This record gives sequence, structure tokens and C-alpha cells, in this order.
Amino acid sequence: MSAPVLRLDSVAWKVGWTKTIISDIDLAFRAGQLSALIGPSGCGKTTVLKCLLTLLRPSTGKASWDGSDLWPQRRQWRARVGYVPQDDVVHTALTVRQALTYAARLRLDAGTEAAAIDKRVESIARLLGLDERLKLRIARLSGGQRKRVNIGVELVADPDILVLDEPASGLDPATEGDLVHLLKGLAAAGRLVVMTTHSMEYLDECHKVVLLMKGRVVFSGSAPEMLAHFSAPHPAEVFRVLRTADADDWASRWRGSPLSARAAA
Ligand SMILES: Nc1ncnc2c1ncn2[C@@H]1O[C@H](COP(=O)(O)OP(=O)(O)OP(=O)(O)O)[C@@H](O)[C@H]1O
Ligand SMILES: [Mg+2]
Repeated sequence: MSAPVLRLDSVAWKVGWTKTIISDIDLAFRAGQLSALIGPSGCGKTTVLKCLLTLLRPSTGKASWDGSDLWPQRRQWRARVGYVPQDDVVHTALTVRQALTYAARLRLDAGTEAAAIDKRVESIARLLGLDERLKLRIARLSGGQRKRVNIGVELVADPDILVLDEPASGLDPATEGDLVHLLKGLAAAGRLVVMTTHSMEYLDECHKVVLLMKGRVVFSGSAPEMLAHFSAPHPAEVFRVLRTADADDWASRWRGSPLSARAAA
């Protein structure tokens, strides 16, 4: 049996009647894979994630999981998916242990014993390199450590779908590498993991890279395929090449490419 697929088909999202933020979005994300959404600031990455999360209802088209429309089942869907937003949401007066413990109590089965919760909290803290920070208030943490607490709060419930908006922002390169490997490991265990990122460093670790420009998909495939598509020697060059034409040109060039039909399948 093939892995379940989270899809966006012909999705557009508009503000009012006239302002189109994203359009013609056809994308498929698969369980067992780590996918990255990239593109210049304001290109619509967070908006695409919010459509996947049913936090936004597409103006046209639909988001679906394993073939069924997500909008009618959005309550269950939102409870099922782990979401780490771009801005930190964890209360900074709590200690790391409190934040992770409260999240675990809220999300694990009501009958879960305190000792099992402690064990879970400690293993997540270890996984995220926060085990020596458990007693500290979140206000005292560095930006990167705080980001990892936000990720931990979602990981305690062990969701099978994990959506992260710029999880690597504020992390040093080594910690970012650790985080990408962690996310890749979660995907390898069968979860579906989608993140946005501004960093081009670890795209080779992702099964799928989706490049957006002005609300349009201009590429979706592996990092090496992206370099070939844009005739770029390395990922950072792709953004320079993008500036040589407008989003409509790149989007129609993508639609005309043989990779495009395969990517949306
Ligand atoms: N509710 C809204 N009303 C009006 N415009 C909006 C709304 N939400 C998003 N936008 C606009 O849509 C565009 C895409 O926003 P989005 O947050 O998806 O970009 P992004 O790719 O995540 O950017 P960044 O990399 O800076 O996080 C931006 O120009 C933003 O101002
Ligand atoms: Mg964003």
C-alpha cells in the first residue's frame, strides 16, 4: 500500500475579491518524507502551511488527506497535526520542564501516569538538546533554545503529521543540522514532516523541496533537480537566477516541465 498523501489541488487564497496571495497550488506531501517550502520573504510559504493546517480555507481548490477533503473534518485534523508556528507561542514565565509537562498532560491520554509523562518529557528534552535546561525559565533561554522548546511542545504528543514554520530560524548551523536530522528521522519513522526554511544549507536532506515565488509554485522536486531546473551551481544561486524573470514566467516554465506532472502525482 502506498503512503497516505496530503495534497493541495488548484488551491488559491485571496484577501477580499482582488488580492491574490497564492494561486494554482498543486502539491503533494507524503508520509515518510521530509519536505521543505522555500522562497523569498512574503512569497506565501506560511499561507500554504495554513491551508494544509485548515487554519485558512482556500478561496478555490482544496486540501485533502488520503483523498478526503480536510475542510469538513478540520476540527479533528487540527487536533491531529503538530504545528510549530513561525512566532514562539510558549509562555516565557514557565520553566522548560513545566512547558513540556503541561503540553504532555494536555495531549497524552488522560490516564497517562505522571512517571510516564516525566519520562516522555525527559526523552524529548534530550532529543532537542535541552536536558540541561529543564529547570530554566523560558524567558532566560536563547532564541534557538526557545525555538526548540516550541518544537518539543509539539513532539511530546508524537503527532504523525508535523508542520513547522521556520523551525531553524535563530539556530546556529550545527544546531540547525541536528534539527534537520531529527526531522528527517521522524519522517523516516513514517511521519509526514513539512517545514518552511530560509536556509539552503540542508536541502539535500529533504525528500522534496518546493520553491514559491509571489504565491506561485515555480519548482517542486529534489534539491539536485532544482539546481538542474534553474541551471544553478548551488542552492543559494537559485534565488539570483529567479530574479532574472518574473513569477508568471517561472510558473509557466515549471508547468511545462516533465517533472511538474510527476511532482503533483
Ligand atoms: N490576512 C492577510 N491579509 C492581507 N495580506 C496578507 C494576509 N496574510 C498574508 N498576507 C500577505 O501575503 C503575502 C504572503 O505572506 P506569507 O506570510 O505567506 O509569506 P511567507 O512566505 O511566509 O513570508 P516570510 O518568509 O517572511 O515568513 C505577504 O505579502 C503578506 O503580507
Ligand atoms: Mg512565513
